[in-house]
Amino acid sequence: MMVPPAEEPFSKRDQMSTPAIEMRHVSLAFDEKPVIDDVSFQVPPGGTLILLGATGSGKSLLLKLILGLLKPDRGEILIEGQDIVPLPETALNAIRKRMGIVFQEGALFDSLPVYENVSYRLREDGERDEAKIEARVREVLGFVEMEHAIDKMPAELSGGMRRRVAIARAIASAPSIMLYDSPTAGLDPITAQTINVLIIKLRDLQGVTSVVVTHRLQDTVVLTNFVYSAERKALVPAFTDGGPRRRGPVLFQIMREGRVAFQGTQEELARAADPSLQRFVA
Ligand SMILES: Nc1ncnc2c1ncn2[C@@H]1O[C@H](COP(=O)(O)OP(=O)(O)OP(=O)(O)O)[C@@H](O)[C@H]1O
Ligand SMILES: [Mg+2]
Repeated sequence: MMVPPAEEPFSKRDQMSTPAIEMRHVSLAFDEKPVIDDVSFQVPPGGTLILLGATGSGKSLLLKLILGLLKPDRGEILIEGQDIVPLPETALNAIRKRMGIVFQEGALFDSLPVYENVSYRLREDGERDEAKIEARVREVLGFVEMEHAIDKMPAELSGGMRRRVAIARAIASAPSIMLYDSPTAGLDPITAQTINVLIIKLRDLQGVTSVVVTHRLQDTVVLTNFVYSAERKALVPAFTDGGPRRRGPVLFQIMREGRVAFQGTQEELARAADPSLQRFVA
């Protein structure tokens, strides 16, 4: 077994570049009950944030805050350096164009065929040229290997296929940030792996900054220890001599009742003494 070299969580380069996503002391309460409590973190461009934590710990809320769908009571949320908290809805829409989200359950519009599901964002963003729309829809469906399903209805697709279409829809407007809410939940291990490959492919070929919520240890292992090789069209280990390396660091954040219970690299998590964190360690 090869020992991976010690990882530098924030290299000099990362420290100098503006984080793709940053939260500073963000808090949110519903009916006086704190659900997000003084959360701070940074994700450098091209990096991966793996969000872990029990059900109800605040993971989906963090994604909604990043998208500006919810406003915090306190704190700053910076997207590519800009605090989105004070922004009105019109300005938020422009910023959301740089982000894609795959919602929990990979929700699609059930009454619309795949083509309309995937073109939705493009139309919302004002694209009217149908030839351009179709070309882009085919391109992103090709990326997730679902072009054959372009005329199908969501009900005709398997769970894994629906998830792939949801990813195609999210990447249609070429976002620089992707948010995935439990993208592999409910999928069999082989289908789940194909979704992980897509996430890594987007990250490593296009430099997309990724936030991935997951309950599955296997996802964290794959997202951390593999990179996508364009040459081999497959995942290869991230830590090989002279081999390709992933573009940005992979950071782990474990949420517990709205607070950050752990933040750090895979190695730091492996060394963390707290027994309640150990179930997240391979
Ligand atoms: N709109 C809302 N109004 C009131 N409470 C909410 C609302 N949305 C979420 N909550 C509460 O905030 C807490 C965190 O919710 P969140 O959806 O972020 O959990 P989660 O970590 O995503 O859980 P899961 O793993 O089950 O998806 C929960 O206690 C939830 O009940
Ligand atoms: Mg959730």
